[in-house]
Amino acid sequence: MAARNSDVNLGLTRADVTPKSLWLNRRALLAGAGALSLAGALPARAAAELTPNSLEEITSYNNFYEFGFDKEDPARHAGALTTSPWSVEIDGLVDRPGSYALEDLLAGLKVEERIYRFRCVEAWSMVIPWNGVPLAALLEKVGVQSGAKYVRFESLARAEEMPGVAAGLLDFPYREGLRLDEAMHPLTLLATGIYGEPMPKQNGAPIRLVAPWKYGFKSAKSLVKISLTDTQPETTWQKLQPREYGFYANVNPNVDHPRWSQASERVIGGGLFAKRVDTLMFNGYEDQVAGLYKGQDLAADY
Ligand code: MTE
Repeated sequence: MAARNSDVNLGLTRADVTPKSLWLNRRALLAGAGALSLAGALPARAAAELTPNSLEEITSYNNFYEFGFDKEDPARHAGALTTSPWSVEIDGLVDRPGSYALEDLLAGLKVEERIYRFRCVEAWSMVIPWNGVPLAALLEKVGVQSGAKYVRFESLARAEEMPGVAAGLLDFPYREGLRLDEAMHPLTLLATGIYGEPMPKQNGAPIRLVAPWKYGFKSAKSLVKISLTDTQPETTWQKLQPREYGFYANVNPNVDHPRWSQASERVIGGGLFAKRVDTLMFNGYEDQVAGLYKGQDLAADY
């Protein structure tokens, strides 16, 4: 992954600056803030800034290497992806392992609206209004066994429908992981939609991970397998470049990527008014998640 100049140009020349303001009603804002406050107080400044990007922005500037390297590739190629039927394999240290039809896996779980900041390790950011179920609710449903310490996520790798997989752009399937306490945190979501619509294919249909205090690469898309393990899972990016992409990948303005600063970020959208803002510790979710890392050296555990 590289913060390339072309990324910057794309953001600055974007013509569509209209947020989906019709959708952004008071109810949705309250739902987002309410969900967050469950996990702790949301700083007034953070709450005021959560104006979502437009659907056009969210669906036309993506990282999804299964469809190609360029930010436009997912929108260009993901339309061919078959997302129904879809099944997710649950295995490892769980009481009820198996291959679940997505509908069965989600049955009985309440879909919530969450407006989250999204910060890519490449130093750009958006605000995205997700719909989804807390990962904790799903893990409780399948029954986590006492020896489990981590959760491993695996994305679809279907060469016939994914040109980036066919071309071998990365070591697919895309793999990610969380520590069990991170996975059980109330902020951690399995997202199934954006703006109240089913998940757009380029954003990881039909179901993807979202952990808003971590760099975006942790949030694996189009999940086909979730495993409970007792050892830290190997992840795609860590395996490729361990010095650049750590397992934790918590957003941290004080720990730079070896090749660029993480102190600030380019806000996607706004056309000519696109701005750079300071990056917030844990992407603005410090009050909610700092406790997970008590006693850890965040520079060593990057
Ligand atoms: N998941 C899969 N399977 N493949 C990917 O290439 N890219 C990651 C993450 N999840 C990626 C993935 C990266 S680097 C980012 S920043 C986010 O998805 C981008 O999510 P978005 O396109 O919905 O904004």
